[in-house]
Amino acid sequence: MLFLTEADIRYQDTYLDGMREFQAEGRYMDWMIEDLVAQFPRFVQNLHARKTHPQPGNVPETVYWLVENETFIGRLSLRHGLTEGLNLLGGNIGYEIRPSRRRLGYGTAILRLGLEKARDLGLERVLVTCDDTNIGSIKIIEANGGVWQNTNAVPGHSVPVRRYWITLV
Ligand SMILES: CC(C)(COP(=O)(O)OP(=O)(O)OC[C@H]1O[C@@H](n2cnc3c(N)ncnc32)[C@H](O)[C@@H]1OP(=O)(O)O)[C@@H](O)C(=O)NCCC(=O)NCCS
Repeated sequence: MLFLTEADIRYQDTYLDGMREFQAEGRYMDWMIEDLVAQFPRFVQNLHARKTHPQPGNVPETVYWLVENETFIGRLSLRHGLTEGLNLLGGNIGYEIRPSRRRLGYGTAILRLGLEKARDLGLERVLVTCDDTNIGSIKIIEANGGVWQNTNAVPGHSVPVRRYWITLV
């Protein structure tokens, strides 16, 4: 069964495997895997706190992990609101599939499941953004009902960013 769950220590081992894969492609380079291993319960607690006690300037965010057969497949952030910055880059929902599980349909599935969570939260529409060059993500958003609004240059970002709205009601 494929489902989204909030961060949970039971998936520690495969989550860390996934993080190693992300790091091998240059993501999360400021995270030390050894530190995560040493403090995993606290790390998970901090992820939960993003929902209840967001950092100043941040909107509440629920972090979900996509799991299949007890194995971490990917992650999704559901931001309950938008800031000026998120309105240009990031939107309400962001997601990643671990490199070893790409091109298998999980990206399309994670956004579909994330939209259900957004609907449960009471959001009526969500903004999803992606790089103009990210063909996989463009397909995922459009397959999930995304309606393109515009594509903008974003200061400090090398690629123009597409903005899509997905209506949930
Ligand atoms: C983008 C990403 C989420 C795609 O995940 P995925 O599990 O490979 O997606 P899917 O298997 O559901 O693929 C969806 C479609 O995109 C296509 N696709 C996926 N990656 C692609 C790529 N790199 N180049 C071209 N097409 C691609 C698939 O073939 C599929 O096409 P189809 O619907 O015509 O069959 C994944 O590559 C990833 O995590 N990238 C890094 C983070 C990222 O870019 N996140 C999105 C931010 S907006």
